[in-house]
Amino acid sequence: MDTSRLEVRADQLPGIRPAARLRVYLHQENISRPREAAKGENTMASVKFIHHVNVQISHRQRTREWYEQVLGAEFLDRGPLNERQLQLRIGAGEMHFTETSEPVTTGHFAVEVDDWEAMLATLERLEVPYSRSPGSTNAGPPKTSEDTPYQGRREDNGEHYTYIHDPDGNLIELLSHPLGLEDSEGKAVELPDPSKGLRWKQKEGFVTSR
Ligand SMILES: [Fe+2]
Repeated sequence: MDTSRLEVRADQLPGIRPAARLRVYLHQENISRPREAAKGENTMASVKFIHHVNVQISHRQRTREWYEQVLGAEFLDRGPLNERQLQLRIGAGEMHFTETSEPVTTGHFAVEVDDWEAMLATLERLEVPYSRSPGSTNAGPPKTSEDTPYQGRREDNGEHYTYIHDPDGNLIELLSHPLGLEDSEGKAVELPDPSKGLRWKQKEGFVTSR
């Protein structure tokens, strides 16, 4: 008997009229899934943060150097996995880069920086163009008294913002929130300290260079 599949013809069940002619298939995999899900019946997973953003690039070394210099990113040695992707730590999250001859850029992603003036000084020093308008040098009329063609400041939370492009044209929004982060009760929440070299633990011996 094939135990992986239990076939029940509805018209063979007691109390079911033969005219019903309904066939019900109960596959073992279909039986077990709801039981597993039932373990966490009353719980719901919560997202901690965005783990990584993946963008396409055309030159791995150029990208690595640019993100290291402009955004203080750190190369993540993932051993053999690095053959498939360039992976960098950026703040408390990660950027993954897929190399392709003709990268396609979509939308934008944003990063939070801790020192706005230092960030702008870095952009100036490295001659990285930045604009208050995404994807354009024409920022339009200012929306607040602190807006310039190069950077903006939102009225509600004092957020600083500007936009830059990486060497392949991926659009990056730079943000800084001087009022900080708070929980639903209004208590200040501290972010992880990126200077401590955050990384996901790996199995012993997987990466030989560390
Ligand atoms: Fe944005």
